[in-house]
Amino acid sequence: VSASPHKHQNFLQCLSEHSSKRYPISKVVHTPINSSYSSVLDFSIRNLLFSKPETPKPLLIITPSHVSHIQAAVICSKSHGLQIRTRSGGHDFEGLSYVAYHPFIIVDLINLRSIKIDVETNTAWVESGATLGELYYRIGEKSRTLAFPGGVCPTVGVGGHFSGGGYGLMLRKFGLAADNVIDAYLVDANGKVHDRKSMGEDLFWAIRGGGGGSFGIVVAWKIKLVSVPATVTICSTNRNLKGDGIKLVHQWQYVANKLDENLFLGIMLTGGNITTTQEGIANPIATFFSLFLGKVDILVATLSAIFPELGFTKEDCVETSWIESTLIAATGVGTVESLEPLLNRTPSNLENGKMKSDYFKEPISIATIEGLWQRLKAKDIETSQLIFIPYGGRMSQISEMETPFSHRAGILYKIGYFVAWKEQSLKAKKKHISWIRDIYKYMTPFVSKSPRSAYANYRDLDIGANKKYGKTSVRQASIWGLKYFGNNFKRLVYVKTKVDPYDFFRHEQSIPTL
Ligand code: FDA
Repeated sequence: VSASPHKHQNFLQCLSEHSSKRYPISKVVHTPINSSYSSVLDFSIRNLLFSKPETPKPLLIITPSHVSHIQAAVICSKSHGLQIRTRSGGHDFEGLSYVAYHPFIIVDLINLRSIKIDVETNTAWVESGATLGELYYRIGEKSRTLAFPGGVCPTVGVGGHFSGGGYGLMLRKFGLAADNVIDAYLVDANGKVHDRKSMGEDLFWAIRGGGGGSFGIVVAWKIKLVSVPATVTICSTNRNLKGDGIKLVHQWQYVANKLDENLFLGIMLTGGNITTTQEGIANPIATFFSLFLGKVDILVATLSAIFPELGFTKEDCVETSWIESTLIAATGVGTVESLEPLLNRTPSNLENGKMKSDYFKEPISIATIEGLWQRLKAKDIETSQLIFIPYGGRMSQISEMETPFSHRAGILYKIGYFVAWKEQSLKAKKKHISWIRDIYKYMTPFVSKSPRSAYANYRDLDIGANKKYGKTSVRQASIWGLKYFGNNFKRLVYVKTKVDPYDFFRHEQSIPTL
């Protein structure tokens, strides 16, 4: 993607004309001739698949330190026919926050990450460029009994995460991150700033789960903090998937969504070429992991009564505070010496990856789980993971229409299928992508149907994408839109048409206009 130097200069001129003298935009503009350009671009790339020399690069990157910089970016991109990709944490599985096939700029919100916690009202304002780890850290600084029900990985950005729903280990008690948003600041397609009141309830509804990058640039979110006990319990135990493990996974489907809503019990099936765990269990492994908003004795007693076959003991668990549990969940290490790692924006591992997802309304059979196990055994795959997330509890109580996220009552659980690899060859890419597509195809008869549903934050362009050039019809976009949003897709189209009729904020899976 390139533009003539003349156009480039005009664009820079436009930016400075539309930003205030008090906050000069030139300080936060990175063009390819600046030495900062590559480091800023690469810093928040979370999928190496989209970091190749041939990957299209932005004409420039703006790292706003003031909302007026975002307004100028929108106004000037619009008048110069450029697209904007908004990036908060950069975790989009398809790289849509930093790659486009039209001339584009990136608005990277890394400098807008202030967090203000108000323990009087149990609310917080968090800017989109903050990570979940930063948010949790700041809550933990103020209180041991306040928390927020967001995702597990601390480097995930608030901006994309809240925009697509956002779930973590407390979803059965408090719902999604987006369910706990009560106000927001957004810059719209005309460069105007709105809060909840001025944007109106339709747009406020759409930005809480309708997927990032469709409606505007959310600058900050006001969230409701939730109350948790001073002591919570976090546990994990590994089982060999062969034999007993398969039976346990099968049984889990009948138990996990009916447990007390204070209790989350998920499963991670790990395959690929990692050979054994610390306890000497060979791949594929079933890791049962749990967060209980209460003490260990009650957790162990509850699980022994309802799911004795799992054999969870006190030794599998740690009693701790919620804030420490976020770090334990992220690292898998049971002792926390410092909470500082929550502030680290650089993930420990950078790889190529692909994600897909399915929702389940009926349990799958032992034979089906055996089929998953066979596929996880593939030794020429570097890392493969299936993450089973139980629903029920609060997730069943929130109506399907409350937010764009429609997967509520009647869902037993979700599976996220993930494959990752480091080897950079085309052959390795083909092999790993074929593996995940094969497992997804294998699961077709057993998953939710008409439509086969998927999680918007586990972005997957295999399920459908907007046309590369020209207008995508609502019917074409329904192929992927109904999967992510069910019947809410229609309302998302209606809101999009109302607030961004010329489809300025667009990408491969942005909501189309009528
Ligand atoms: P990124 O910056 O890439 O943005 C994602 C999308 O939102 C893009 O389309 C982008 O343009 C748009 N966007 C970003 N900021 C915006 C803003 N301020 N206003 C408007 N649009 C904006 N999910 C989950 O629910 N629970 C979990 O535990 C995890 N764990 C997890 C771990 C890892 C390692 C990865 C890679 C991903 C997850 N996810 C997850 C998925 C994650 O929630 C999803 O990828 C989010 O969209 C990431 O948000 P970022 O801001 O990091 O992404």
